Amino acid sequence: MPLTAITREVSASINDCELSFHAREPIDLGRAIAQHKAYQNCLAESGARVVSLPAEPKLPDAVFVEDPAVVMDEIAVISIMGAPSRRPEASSVTEALSRYRPIKFLTAPATLDGGDVLRIDRTVFVGLSRRTNREGVAQLSELLRPYEYRVDPVKMRGCLHLKSACSYLGNHTALVNRSWIGEQDLQEFELLNVAEDEPGAANALLLNGVVIMPASFPKTRVRLEKCGLRVRTIDVSELQKAEAGVTCCSLIFNDEGVTRRGAEFWKEK
Ligand code: GLY
Repeated sequence: MPLTAITREVSASINDCELSFHAREPIDLGRAIAQHKAYQNCLAESGARVVSLPAEPKLPDAVFVEDPAVVMDEIAVISIMGAPSRRPEASSVTEALSRYRPIKFLTAPATLDGGDVLRIDRTVFVGLSRRTNREGVAQLSELLRPYEYRVDPVKMRGCLHLKSACSYLGNHTALVNRSWIGEQDLQEFELLNVAEDEPGAANALLLNGVVIMPASFPKTRVRLEKCGLRVRTIDVSELQKAEAGVTCCSLIFNDEGVTRRGAEFWKEK
């Protein structure tokens, strides 16, 4: 299935990023840019057509393009992000997505971050985090109702986004940190636990049969490989200081019907 991955270059102001559960550490901008480029290459080598939006110099978190939108097969929903500083990120993402999908918008008092949204087939799990409120879940549910998605709120604690706590690995299996989501959630799936001393390892990106995950979680990697999964690791250590994972730096969706240009980067004008 042809896939497009929308990404955005790292902002020079990334050191002023939002932080919720991490202590602030200096981010080496040059290394962050190099790691992000390697991430884009990884997506392209995995078969996605990578769209690279220009950096937003005054928006420190703008590289995390997963958060302003939720892209489904039928529509894209532009959210109101939970952190007010991040809300201006949505306009350029809206413009980019409007080439691919009809656009719908959440309205106040809804808040929702795309990192809180985990889609597994026709079920959309939405984390009730510091960033996403019940009104956000309710509005998303209403917008997706015509397309027969089931939207399930998930209680969580101790981490930024739902996808910090769990990711889908395919084959009815989810990678989870059970201390961050309830026992009863995702109970219809096989659950694979992260290594105890790698709590941040539950954020992984399944792309064309390969699980992409940060190099900093070797024990969890071994667990995945023992289950027969193909894993590719990448060094995102500087981006992790901004409370990032591997899903949050891209919006990946089926682009069937859109002219495919292979896996080369397509710089947005
Ligand atoms: N630094 C990523 C976020 O807080 O949204």
